[in-house]
Amino acid sequence: MKQQLETIEKKAREALAEVRESAELEALRVKFLGKKGELTAVLKKMGSLSPEERPQMGQLANQIRAHIEQEIETRKTELAAAALDMKLTAEAIDVTMPPKTVPIGHKHPMSIVLDEMKEIFIGMGYDVVDGPEVELESYNFTKLNTPAGHPARDRQDTFYTTEDDSVLLRTQTSPMQIRVMESRKPPIRIISPGRVYRKDEVDATHSPMFHQMEGLVIDKGITMADLKGALTQMVKLLYGEDSVVRFRPHHFPFTEPSCEVDVRCFKCCGEGEIEGHTCSTCHGEGWIEILGAGMVHPWVLEGCGIDPNEYSGFAFGCGVERMTMNRFAINDLRLIFENDTRFLEQF
Ligand code: PHE
Repeated sequence: MKQQLETIEKKAREALAEVRESAELEALRVKFLGKKGELTAVLKKMGSLSPEERPQMGQLANQIRAHIEQEIETRKTELAAAALDMKLTAEAIDVTMPPKTVPIGHKHPMSIVLDEMKEIFIGMGYDVVDGPEVELESYNFTKLNTPAGHPARDRQDTFYTTEDDSVLLRTQTSPMQIRVMESRKPPIRIISPGRVYRKDEVDATHSPMFHQMEGLVIDKGITMADLKGALTQMVKLLYGEDSVVRFRPHHFPFTEPSCEVDVRCFKCCGEGEIEGHTCSTCHGEGWIEILGAGMVHPWVLEGCGIDPNEYSGFAFGCGVERMTMNRFAINDLRLIFENDTRFLEQF
């Protein structure tokens, strides 16, 4: 009998070692220790033992039951711990994992340059004013000393919105000169950026819609020297202290005298060529035109109720796309309008 009991203990230990799930433990308890279990079956045969052997076997049986019960408890604890471990691993949160990022947009290169230009002029005491893109013909042309018959008024070049040509999409920001002079008294110092429209085919340097920034200064004793000072300052602040400007005589109907302003080409440093090849940025000119300007024509002042004997002033209008292309060495105007993120992300 002793051997039978010891075999049960051995079998029970082996079986328990194999158990992988706590549910199986109960089945084994029943199998070995239950009323119809193996241990009970052996004990039922106690009657056949001698009176001396009976207590010994009883004690041994109790020990074995205790051992098996203890083993079941131990396995139960082990399995519970293993299950918890697995659950923790499975549900683990990696706090070092970077979160999904929401892409944040940033300023368009032209907005960067426009903001820099505004900053520069605000620093010189100018106001920023806004004006309509759908404009009266009289503001866009007539009051700017550009009478009927002037080539700029051609239907080929301008988007008219009425049959009688009295309303159009402004071709320049210069009508803002008139609007400001009619509504404010000198001294006047304003800039006015915005969209303008011309019937241009789209190519690397033309677009039917583009941006200009107009500037106007009216006060007593304003001269061409003030114009040169303000614009030179703008160029140096925008393109760097060592940039070089050139004022070239030109003609605009509403300024007299008029000029165009060039910056020395940043690519070839004014040479017009690089290693024997014509510079592609300035097309061999050595200079890049950035704006038109001039002293406000006395007739224009008069038309706005400002006495040209008392006041004088200057105006300028620059292409914001052009300024941006120079600033960031962009060679194709279309890149500015296409909104290709591969391009925009470079700024
Ligand atoms: N409006 C002119 C243009 O579009 C530029 C300009 C503005 C010239 C102000 C003189 C004064 O070309």
